[in-house]
Amino acid sequence: MSTELVQTIAEIRHRLESIRSSHQIIGLVPTMGALHAGHESLIQQARKEADCLVVSIFVNPLQFGPKEDYTRYPRMPEADLDFCRRLDVDLIFAPEVEEMYPTPSLTSVEVARMTDHLCGPFRPGHFSGVATVVAKLFHIIQPQRAYFGEKDAQQLRVIERMVSDLNLAVTVVAVPTVRESDGLAVSSRNQYLSPEERRSAPILYRALQAAQQAIAEGVLDCGEARKRALAVLEQDQSVKVEYLEIVDPEEMQPVEQITGPVRVAGAIRIGAIRLIDNLLIAP
Ligand code: PAJ
Repeated sequence: MSTELVQTIAEIRHRLESIRSSHQIIGLVPTMGALHAGHESLIQQARKEADCLVVSIFVNPLQFGPKEDYTRYPRMPEADLDFCRRLDVDLIFAPEVEEMYPTPSLTSVEVARMTDHLCGPFRPGHFSGVATVVAKLFHIIQPQRAYFGEKDAQQLRVIERMVSDLNLAVTVVAVPTVRESDGLAVSSRNQYLSPEERRSAPILYRALQAAQQAIAEGVLDCGEARKRALAVLEQDQSVKVEYLEIVDPEEMQPVEQITGPVRVAGAIRIGAIRLIDNLLIAP
């Protein structure tokens, strides 16, 4: 089957009806487009496991704050279509905003607690916007399997928790972070870094590794491990630290002493660009 582009909810439901009734596995990779090597890894994993592979491309206004980059977010529908063709995607679901939100959404999905730290306080309403659109996509597509990147670890946990709290009939599959050769996590926003900013950008990964190294050396105090990571970030004056936290990987709550696996996560700003990354550390 060649890749087909579908833009309406009625049409995608219609297309998937016969697939579902013949008990084929539907896999969904939700994206905001501007597809890159990170998305590719999700799509490849999904291609192996699904009979019918759907990639959604939708820049979701609900998850952007008023001062964020919704209008400047990269949109490249032609390149995305070629990208999906090359990876043997069956259906692209790319609705317009009016199709997804014909009237202002009065209903939203809030996943409490997991959003109290890390990106949550810096992006009010963001995770509610993500959970709401993903819940809508799950209802429209009804996939048995859906793929999310560990690059956005807090988002991944929010989705996993929504699925378990609301008994949604979908298996969430977590896919490891894809990085450039210098360690920078691949992201749609990397293309906006100037050459100089791009040279600074891998510092976030190096900072996370410094915390990882400290813990590997036996540091059990998270304050100390955090200090080691922050010391790396302080080496570059062009880098503004938004947060650097060590949290438990289940509920994303700050941890003081290492007693089990933790996630070290950070967000920095280089110029106008905000970068996030994280590492799972199992002592
Ligand atoms: P987007 O940023 O397009 O990312 C789509 C998916 O690709 C997410 O699950 C994200 O974690 C994953 N991803 C991005 N960069 C990655 C990398 N370097 N390695 C591995 N996976 C990576 O995340 C969103 O869109 C939206 O919030 C969405 C879930 C689609 C809801 O609107």
